[in-house]
Amino acid sequence: MKSRIEPIAEDIYRISVYPSESFSFNHFLIVDKSPVFIHMGRPEWFETLTKLVSEVIDPASIKYLTFSHFEADECSNLNRWLHIAKNAEVLVGKTGKASIEDFSSKPPRLFEDFETFDLGTKRLIALETPHCPHNWDACMFFEEITGTLFSSDLGANQCTSDLFFEGDSFIEQVILFEKNVGFMSKGKPLRQASKKISQMNPKILAIQHGAITRGVTIQRLLSRLIDEFCD
Ligand SMILES: [Fe+2]
Ligand SMILES: [Fe+2]
Repeated sequence: MKSRIEPIAEDIYRISVYPSESFSFNHFLIVDKSPVFIHMGRPEWFETLTKLVSEVIDPASIKYLTFSHFEADECSNLNRWLHIAKNAEVLVGKTGKASIEDFSSKPPRLFEDFETFDLGTKRLIALETPHCPHNWDACMFFEEITGTLFSSDLGANQCTSDLFFEGDSFIEQVILFEKNVGFMSKGKPLRQASKKISQMNPKILAIQHGAITRGVTIQRLLSRLIDEFCD
């Protein structure tokens, strides 16, 4: 299976695995005094993920483990990561609390909407985005210093060759994928999450599947998603 690690901003890395030529799963590592790993991945990728993280930091030093919602690609490996990163805290919002308390080998640390975590030089803001991209417990994260918004499945696409992809053709790839797969909540949850994302004024949208995007494409993508999927 193809895999790669590459920087997307200063001390933030995308770690991707490619179970097929046309679809990828992205995991994100924020390197700081308190390192963060976002999206735990599935069991068959665990060895690859830990090996790639080891190229940058000692995986045991990870301070925060987190993800958007309770789903296999988001958090299957949670307990494997906790076994390695013994001092790590699992960050979860109030609607995800019950599932993670049952699933996790360690009680999670609950965050409030807009709670900010000081990582050393960077700052991570937790955003509750219920039902968006999907699942009641959904949340997203924003790293304030680099302007990186971790959007989970929002913006998912099948562009597996590029790290960054911007412009109209990228937006149309996202719309096409969502129309084909239809896994994202439409209507009010999408509107509310888009508003929160816009409020952060992100420079980079770190998407869980496919290429990521940046700059003016982010706001244009949000507007296009609302036009297409909200009444
Ligand atoms: Fe998902
Ligand atoms: Fe996903």
